[in-house]
Amino acid sequence: MVEICTSDEWRPAAEHALEFAQGQVRNLIEHDPGFYPMYSEGGRWRHGKEAWTHWCDGFLPGMMWIFAKHTKDPYWFAAAERYSRPLEERKFDRDVHDLGFIFFSTYHRWHELSGDAELDAVVIQAGQTLAKRFQQKGEYLSSFMGPESVFIDIMANVGIIVYAAQKTGDEALLDVAFKHCLTSQKRLVRGDGSTAHEGIFDLETGEFLRQTTQQGCRGDSCWSRGLAWAIYGFTSVYEATKDPRFFEAARACANYYIVNTPADGVPLMDYDFPPDVEQRRESSAAAITAAALFRLARVVPHPAQGALYDGVARRIITTLATPPYLASETPGWEGILKEGIYHLDKGLGVGESVMWGEYFFCEALDRALTPIA
Ligand code: GLY
Repeated sequence: MVEICTSDEWRPAAEHALEFAQGQVRNLIEHDPGFYPMYSEGGRWRHGKEAWTHWCDGFLPGMMWIFAKHTKDPYWFAAAERYSRPLEERKFDRDVHDLGFIFFSTYHRWHELSGDAELDAVVIQAGQTLAKRFQQKGEYLSSFMGPESVFIDIMANVGIIVYAAQKTGDEALLDVAFKHCLTSQKRLVRGDGSTAHEGIFDLETGEFLRQTTQQGCRGDSCWSRGLAWAIYGFTSVYEATKDPRFFEAARACANYYIVNTPADGVPLMDYDFPPDVEQRRESSAAAITAAALFRLARVVPHPAQGALYDGVARRIITTLATPPYLASETPGWEGILKEGIYHLDKGLGVGESVMWGEYFFCEALDRALTPIA
């Protein structure tokens, strides 16, 4: 069970970590300009290992937008714009289910800081493109694996369809987003609040066939990053729609995380690892969850529940802002957070820095350190 942080110990740790994060990103973009890394190998961003899927390019500029908002430093505005612009064409990308990751981190943040309607139009187009993955028969957005597959990860992206629908008043688009969320809740969130990574449907009939996984340890296990995507995703659609069904899903998943994660707030890569397998922690799942819980804490109906989520999120960032997770005491390590895992079975980014972990950690730090208006 995660121990709630009740003191102010988190603040100096978070301030130091956000400074450190800016230094690491600055080093990266000055020593390797124009490079968008995905995960490190031995702590180095440049290596020749495969990407598996192309979903991470928004996270590096996304961190720059967080730094720009937080510091108001023109250096970060210029760098963020330079690294965001080349992503615009991906608003038409039909190959990935990750357009929320790519555009909420970049063009949406950019639009929020500038108010420029052309930037908003890019985000709206990305939402419309993502909606084209909708499978009418099973009522879900299909994953990049194929039309029969849905991932829990897509919950962290579907918010961009809700956004596009609300901005344009397109009820059919909103319906696609709602149906995907409800299918994910029904098929991928279990009664105890744990989540399956992937669901498989019969394309002829739309019948749900089974839960399975690409990155967890088995089909009936709970992969911790999938759970984190669920907490983040259901929280963001609840924030946008105020539909209590999405709050219920976010609450159930958050509760599973809080009850089943070690006291320091960082989960194992999978909650159901068999005992004979090396038990590895997964820092990026913790970073995503911290960012999600700060959001959830601000929209819960009951203040006591908000204090719980806030206290757990502060525990997580305090742990992550300290070695062995923070890389501040590892000379030559180029990332911010150690001990992330991209894909254990494929041997990609195991015990490494991963770009989404870096991004959501910075988002969580920014949320913790920004006074509520
Ligand atoms: N495929 C998204 C993730 O690794 O979380």
